[in-house]
Amino acid sequence: MNLLTALFGTSIGKKVVMALTGIILIGFVFGHLVGNLQIFGPPEKINHYAHFLQSLGAGLWVVRAVLLGSVILHIWAAVVLTVENWKARPANYNANTTIQASYASRTMRWSGVIVCAFILYHLAHFTVRVTDPEFNQWTTQLHDGTVVRDVYRMIVVGFASPIVSGFYIISIALLSLHLSHGISSLFQSLGLRTEGWGGFLDKLAVILSWGYFLGNAAIPLYCMFVLKDSL
Ligand code: HEM
Repeated sequence: MNLLTALFGTSIGKKVVMALTGIILIGFVFGHLVGNLQIFGPPEKINHYAHFLQSLGAGLWVVRAVLLGSVILHIWAAVVLTVENWKARPANYNANTTIQASYASRTMRWSGVIVCAFILYHLAHFTVRVTDPEFNQWTTQLHDGTVVRDVYRMIVVGFASPIVSGFYIISIALLSLHLSHGISSLFQSLGLRTEGWGGFLDKLAVILSWGYFLGNAAIPLYCMFVLKDSL
């Protein structure tokens, strides 16, 4: 069996595909969080950072292509594994058999679907900027005189609405729940989970996902309650 058949043609292979694409997506979401936390600094900081990302040009498109490919493969493997799982269930399957599974693991499918819907909204909001077209007009100057997009103002104004911020916070909570199970199960899928450090991995996953949630949720809250009046 060649590598492609092993990865895409077997259940274990598809779990490995989910784990590997999951690692790429986890890397992105944590990196994105670290970048976004610059909203707590002076406006120039996050504006300079956003300008730097835009100036990557073709490099940015390579990153986007890798992310999109990872999302597609991750969802494809999840759907195929789910269908295989349903088909393999005995006719007298009893819902109680899932009682042992954690809440996070039982919610992987619908938390994944809602997070996908959130990402589409988020892209329309801050990347394509079709929900608030005025964001496209806002520019500012860095200290060296370079005129850049005013991403700081866009984020602060974007989160001034409690409905928008509330939707972000709920989606981020679901993404964090998804991450907490995803992080611990990816080690299992890659065959790296042993009896000895299984418990440690579960705790690490919970700590990382809580950290992720609190860091992200702080951004809309800070914009809504502190920065909104500073503009
Ligand atoms: C409070 C939380 C967040 C803030 C403040 C934020 C901010 C931003 C901003 C400002 C952009 C546009 C950058 C630009 O075009 O200059 C962006 C893009 C993006 N964000 Fe977020 N984001 C947040 C949460 C998330 C989450 C939770 C995800 C993923 C699940 C995510 C995924 C993305 C993606 C995929 C892009 C497009 C990147 C690109 O191709 O340019 N963001 N975000």
